[in-house]
Amino acid sequence: MQGKRVLLIVGGGIAAFKALELVRALRREGATVVPVLTAGGAHFVTPLSLSALAASPVHTDLWSLDEGGGMGHIELSRSADLVVVCPATADLMAKMTTGIADDLATTLLLATDTPVIAVPAMNVRMWTHAATVANVATLRARGVTVVEPDEGPMACGEFGPGRLPEVTAIVAAIALHFGPKPLVGRHAVVTAGPTHEPIDPVRYLTNRSSGKQGFAIAGALAALGARVTLIAGPVALATPPGCTRVDVETARQMAVAVEAALPADVAVMVAAVADWGVIVSPAKLKKVEGMPRLDLVENPDILATLGRAVDRPGLVIGFAAETEATIANAVGKRATKKADWIVANDVSGDVMGGDANTVHLVTAEGVEDWPTLPKAEVARRLADRIAQELA
Ligand code: CTP
Repeated sequence: MQGKRVLLIVGGGIAAFKALELVRALRREGATVVPVLTAGGAHFVTPLSLSALAASPVHTDLWSLDEGGGMGHIELSRSADLVVVCPATADLMAKMTTGIADDLATTLLLATDTPVIAVPAMNVRMWTHAATVANVATLRARGVTVVEPDEGPMACGEFGPGRLPEVTAIVAAIALHFGPKPLVGRHAVVTAGPTHEPIDPVRYLTNRSSGKQGFAIAGALAALGARVTLIAGPVALATPPGCTRVDVETARQMAVAVEAALPADVAVMVAAVADWGVIVSPAKLKKVEGMPRLDLVENPDILATLGRAVDRPGLVIGFAAETEATIANAVGKRATKKADWIVANDVSGDVMGGDANTVHLVTAEGVEDWPTLPKAEVARRLADRIAQELA
């Protein structure tokens, strides 16, 4: 971040006080911070403290910037390398979405052609309200990076997603923006989540995969500049910035989507694909008809098919979810599925659905044991390794 100029828009929310810590952290990284405080933000932090920590005047008023005849708000927004909105309130994001420019912050956001990172923080009900969900989706589709809020107890006493992420995580998101993009021009295909195998029109077979690790990997590859096709089974997760998402339900649909996404430079098959589908009953199975018999049919092995495909990606990576003999099974899967690497993990604990993962990277060179890490960090490390491999 050395020498980079960050325009920091501080919105009006209880998390605004953390913007002060963010200013310090960004300056420690070598960035220059130009603060803009909304009227709401000024209820939570004072211009004086923001200005003192940023070592820069604080901009608050749309009209005072035009003194001297210059188009101050245009200059202010264009001279920055990055605009960060933190905290991004529901109101600020709604205004960004609709193009309302009724104060300095919103006018800057409308006038800028500089990349924008929004760091939302708000009450859980506001975050999950259909209006906010739609606004966030619109902003993401327009290229704004909207950082996922944290989940936990809130200042208002409620619990859920909507908390401002830790300052270190915000700095990491900003650093990624300024970081190297070694995967520009590369195409990555990532599968994630479980599959649903219908039994009848209302029932299905599935597994406990949450999709979190696969989504994190897709996001980490996109952050390094890759074009990412994320083929997702049924999960309740937001699409990571920069990824094109294809939603599928069954293993067969996933296989078709993977084939359609080729050619690719790298494929990371993280999905917990159901090994068996069911001969589907066209009508709902009824209890009065007695205990049903489920006839299973083997699903295509997407990874193994890819490993042998004519247009096989240069780097094919599989996952191995095991509950026993993790390494031995992973080594075996690497050979039988013709994968270059297998990321092996023991899923007998609470890995599935959890936020941490302990993995072993199995390559032709041997086995690397990685420490227990947040899934986002596992994703970053793997993306870095992929970038090294494709360099
Ligand atoms: N996989 C796949 N298609 C399948 C089954 C698995 O592409 N039909 C991929 C997974 O995405 C993962 C790897 O194969 O990258 C290993 O999946 P895993 O479930 O661990 O192994 P299986 O081959 O299903 O074997 P088993 O369930 O017997 O351990």
